[in-house]
Amino acid sequence: MTIMDFIVRDIQLAEKGKNLIKWAEDHMPVLMEIRRRFFEEKPLKGIRIGACLHVTKETAALIKTLKLGGASIALAASNPLSTQDEVAAALASEGISVYALRGESREEYYKFIEMVLKTEPMITIDDGADLVTLLHQGKGNLNKVIGGTEETTTGVFRLKALAERGLLKYPIIAVNNAETKWDFDNVYGTGQSTIDGILRATNVLIAGKRFVIAGYGHCGRGIAMRAKGMGARVIVTEVDPFKALKAVMDGFDVMQMKEAAKYGDIFVTATGNKNVIRKEHFELMKDGAILANAGHFNVEIDVKGLEEIKSFKREIRENVEEYVLKDGKKLYLIAEGRLVNLAAAEGHPSEVMDMSFANQALCVEYLKNNAGKLKSIVYDVPREIDEMVAKLKLKTMGIKIDELTEEQLNYIKSWWEGT
Ligand code: ADE
Repeated sequence: MTIMDFIVRDIQLAEKGKNLIKWAEDHMPVLMEIRRRFFEEKPLKGIRIGACLHVTKETAALIKTLKLGGASIALAASNPLSTQDEVAAALASEGISVYALRGESREEYYKFIEMVLKTEPMITIDDGADLVTLLHQGKGNLNKVIGGTEETTTGVFRLKALAERGLLKYPIIAVNNAETKWDFDNVYGTGQSTIDGILRATNVLIAGKRFVIAGYGHCGRGIAMRAKGMGARVIVTEVDPFKALKAVMDGFDVMQMKEAAKYGDIFVTATGNKNVIRKEHFELMKDGAILANAGHFNVEIDVKGLEEIKSFKREIRENVEEYVLKDGKKLYLIAEGRLVNLAAAEGHPSEVMDMSFANQALCVEYLKNNAGKLKSIVYDVPREIDEMVAKLKLKTMGIKIDELTEEQLNYIKSWWEGT
């Protein structure tokens, strides 16, 4: 470990990290277009940014874009197991204050976020709302903050809960809720990278397996779609009647977890809630069932409960722990129940993070330009930004779409024309 104004596992990994970042940048054309403008115009000159994000090659592409736009940035990880040490080293070697170690302890995790807060950020970029939470708990200087952004569903829920109690102290834009974010990153990103994490960890055949997905929001839907595409027999569990109906009509079996527990070969949680799979379910499961979590926090699978009923456990493969229960049954837990796509794979592919992080960059610029004009509430991404990202993405994919004719424009604005 090297300690300067960064904390990374090994600064010698920087060259490898730079190649990974270059790979990401080459697959993030929208962000690169924004980067070119930021470099010319320096819209973030003088802005200090505090970020708590998964330290991946895609995040590095965002951070470098913000820096080229004139900002100074401090970065901590938004999960103890998601940091790509090579990427952290590359960022540190390029003058970013990055505090992140793959496998950092809980104490280190919070200490590193506090180190980011010591830089007195004017704009916060969060993924899961831990940085904002610490800031609101008195660990940092709220007076300097103009605004913030939030990357993920779980973080947006937490921030809305804070705002509803009248406790949110500055405006935050829910980047998660942009159409160009949650309809793509959450669906196709989580769908592909969750399967990727399960495969890298276990290398099991998906075809023919009973694949139980808890939660049919954007993420669960993406996972179900991809698991089905690989030949799995998918079962969905839900608490929301609308989402349950959607899952049924998308062709999946829907049942209660206490039922699904008996059939599943592979279980994935994507609910944003806690103890979704717990002791009473472990006890019903088949020998050899695999457990993974795709939600932001490691609370969805009751790992404590699993510990209590185990006879012993051992690491059987990298990122896979074999829990042997008292009756000899074996259950396999991937990545300690932490988000499987980042802990056991590389997170969402660059192409989809391109849109999420283009939104992030443009929202940071928007916050700077509207400093002092916004209320301390959770905002949606401005429609112009969302639309601009969609149009740019299509352009970089070489896809042209139609435009409404004058006649069609008038027609959809009229009420008098019927059959
Ligand atoms: N969240 C999910 N995938 C990610 C990635 N590749 N980079 C940063 N945050 C992510």
